[in-house]
Amino acid sequence: MIILKSDFEIAEMKMSCQLAASTLDMIEKHVKPGISTLELNDICHDFIVSAGAIPAPLNYKGFPKSICTSVNEVVCHGIPNSKQILKDGDIINIDVTTILNGYHGDTSKTFLVGSNVSLEKRKLVDVTRDCLNAGISAVSPGCRLGDIGYAIESLANSCGYSVVKDFVGHGIGRGFHEDPQISHVGQKGKGIRLDPGMVFTIEPMINAGDWRIKILKDGWTAITLDHSISAQFEHTIAIKSDWTVEILTQK
Ligand code: MF3
Ligand code: CO
Ligand code: CO
Repeated sequence: MIILKSDFEIAEMKMSCQLAASTLDMIEKHVKPGISTLELNDICHDFIVSAGAIPAPLNYKGFPKSICTSVNEVVCHGIPNSKQILKDGDIINIDVTTILNGYHGDTSKTFLVGSNVSLEKRKLVDVTRDCLNAGISAVSPGCRLGDIGYAIESLANSCGYSVVKDFVGHGIGRGFHEDPQISHVGQKGKGIRLDPGMVFTIEPMINAGDWRIKILKDGWTAITLDHSISAQFEHTIAIKSDWTVEILTQK
């Protein structure tokens, strides 16, 4: 069941989304060689709580921390850890979800760590950002769910990359993960039609190698099966009553 939102509710959601976006902006200066992923978690946690909001991942289905930190071959859901220290040349996705006014705002970004990130990693990060933008651009009157996945998959494949199928974007609102699921692969013209009032995330995970993943023994951390590098970007977007598409997590 898809819960449609009024323009007023979308405006309320935007406050949560903007706080999530501000959290990513704030943390950028801390993403440097030598910092631990737990320190990044704690800085984000304090920032979110100080704004009167709740970090949605904390205790969500047992997730133990307030953000997800996914380094290099980690696809998503990496758990912040005091022993995991960022190194020059790493890439790290930081995924922030806030609850403000009772509404979730969900956004993530892949950062380069230090000044010696390989060309291979930079290209993957650039193409993954482009894949998110291609997915967002596919959202237009008359479009169907499959158009989003098609736009993302065709761009990724044209660059020799693969798209993760095990994790998807999602409707979002008072619930963290609402219907519908937004696949990042798909066929043009297939799936349900998108309608005003829909608010959902697009969050492609793009692998340099094979699309398959495995989950580590902690029950959360997803890594690429072939240990190739992986990147991700995520925005929460809304289709307003006049069919304006607004990126709620854009600053
Ligand atoms: N923020 C993630 C998403 O984009 C979900 C994280 S769930 C958690 O949907 F439990 F790992 F935090
Ligand atoms: Co999400
Ligand atoms: Co997220």
